[in-house]
Amino acid sequence: MYYKNNFLMCEDIPIVELTKKYDSPFYAYSKKSIVDKINILKNVFSKLDNYHIAYSLKAESNLSLLKIMIENGIGADVVSANEIRRFINASGDPKEVVFSGVGKRVDEIEYALSVGIKQFNVESIDEAKRIDEIAKRMDKKAKYAIRVNPNVDAFTHKKITTGTKGDKFGVTFDTILNNIDLLKSLTNIELIGLDMHIGSQILSYKPYYDGINILLGFIDILKAKGFNIDTLDIGGGYGINYDGTSNGFDFEGFTEHVIPILKKSNLNILTEPGRFIIGDSGVLVSKIEYIKEEWGKKYIILDASMSDYARVALYDAYNDIKPLVLNDGKKLIYSVAGPVCESSDFFAHDRQIEEVNVGDYVAIDNVGAYGASMASNYNSLLLVEQVLIDGDKDILIRKKQKFEEIIANEL
Ligand SMILES: Cc1ncc(COP(=O)(O)O)c(C=O)c1O
Repeated sequence: MYYKNNFLMCEDIPIVELTKKYDSPFYAYSKKSIVDKINILKNVFSKLDNYHIAYSLKAESNLSLLKIMIENGIGADVVSANEIRRFINASGDPKEVVFSGVGKRVDEIEYALSVGIKQFNVESIDEAKRIDEIAKRMDKKAKYAIRVNPNVDAFTHKKITTGTKGDKFGVTFDTILNNIDLLKSLTNIELIGLDMHIGSQILSYKPYYDGINILLGFIDILKAKGFNIDTLDIGGGYGINYDGTSNGFDFEGFTEHVIPILKKSNLNILTEPGRFIIGDSGVLVSKIEYIKEEWGKKYIILDASMSDYARVALYDAYNDIKPLVLNDGKKLIYSVAGPVCESSDFFAHDRQIEEVNVGDYVAIDNVGAYGASMASNYNSLLLVEQVLIDGDKDILIRKKQKFEEIIANEL
């Protein structure tokens, strides 16, 4: 997104033009940005002989957006059977699917086995036993990696840290070592690798370097114990530039320090990026309903809320707020809130923004990841439209929900 003649543009379209056609609030995504981000990743990982990029659907899983990933050779990292169904629906190949998550249900495992996914990322010994039992009953074979918790600090928000002591994810090396015989006795699933995912919105290569070295050491131990390990999944987590204070994830450092150890390992390398691909490819467009002044502060009340974009309320996330049309450049301090009846329903506190008026539109920037995919019907608000921008074309990729749809299953 960039300004041209005072109009905020997405690719070749002034976003304000879209407000005449679509119902505020709505999400808009840039196809070019998605493809550019995929190419950055491919460029980094193509230095390896064997790599597989599994896009983490939880970041955003609209079918049209998935289709762009699939057309660009990207597989899927999923955490539910329905995410596998989405990927297949978007014409993805189940053989490209890695199934992560701490709570895989029996019916979800059955579905994954029936379509033949690439691998399970197992998060407990009991889960391995469960998959083996189900595979036996279904006369199927499956491959799996064990997600380990390397206990490295990813230096990110504590609610999106996943690889330190006390997190619910993965298992410890001790647990694996205490269950070697049991793991060897599982006949219908084969242990082929280790997996880690240490957090999200990580900016430094260092936690990857530390975590991967720990995992590589443990892979040697597992090999010595007779397991045929050929895969290392290094998770996702590559951060983007939300607030202008960084350049996003340090891929230069990653290429210099991490890629060589991955190459030397001769393993098949998997990675599961979500935010990096889609995060800065999307904006949420919203109309200003009211501007009020209380306690000496100016409050902008938008028609978008935490029901559309929850990350500010959940994680104190920072997102730029940009008027779709710039006026005379005068800036004021505003707090920007939504209509939902929660004190946390804010998009910004005491933020300097170009002066705006009631009826103007703003774009909340960099909301492509964990935006629409985390939206809810809280306050009986409807899921909003999603629009894809491709050059000078805008394409509706999700209709707005109808009130009848949100009550349809209620008795
Ligand atoms: C197991 C796993 N893999 C990949 C991701 C994607 O993370 P990110 O969007 O930060 O790349 C997540 C997100 O939390 C995850 O839990």
